[in-house]
Amino acid sequence: MIAIGCDHGGFDLKCAIVEHLKEKGVEFKDFGIFENTSVDYPDIAKKVADSILSGECERGILVCGTGIGMSIAANKIKGIRAAACSEVYSAEYCRLHNDANILCLGGRVIGPGTAVKMVDVFLKTEFEGGRHSRRVGKIASFEG
Ligand code: RB5
Repeated sequence: MIAIGCDHGGFDLKCAIVEHLKEKGVEFKDFGIFENTSVDYPDIAKKVADSILSGECERGILVCGTGIGMSIAANKIKGIRAAACSEVYSAEYCRLHNDANILCLGGRVIGPGTAVKMVDVFLKTEFEGGRHSRRVGKIASFEG
């Protein structure tokens, strides 16, 4: 199960990604927003992060205007590794090397064509482990 959420800055792009996930038959849970009204992105980031930490969802996608606010908010939550990306290479390597569990996208930065390719690669790519496990473990040790 994939968690998805957005604020008003990411609403249109989230809708495009939701349509793409439906077309591909990917199971997802949508944490809103469901109409384009102004909200505070940390509230949505928290809902998506909690669904991952509880085990309800495996990975998440968060969309705001830039992807940055969502990533800053989500990365404050222990156990979350959120990657703000704008192109496919980073969407792949945040999985391979960083074991990112949330992909953050900017609805005012990238178009839907790039975004859905990034989502596809983020969802299909597994963590490489090995030396990267040690590094990700060191990041976790900062959390106390
Ligand atoms: C909302 O205007 C905008 O600040 C938000 O979507 C996001 O880009 C914050 O990082």
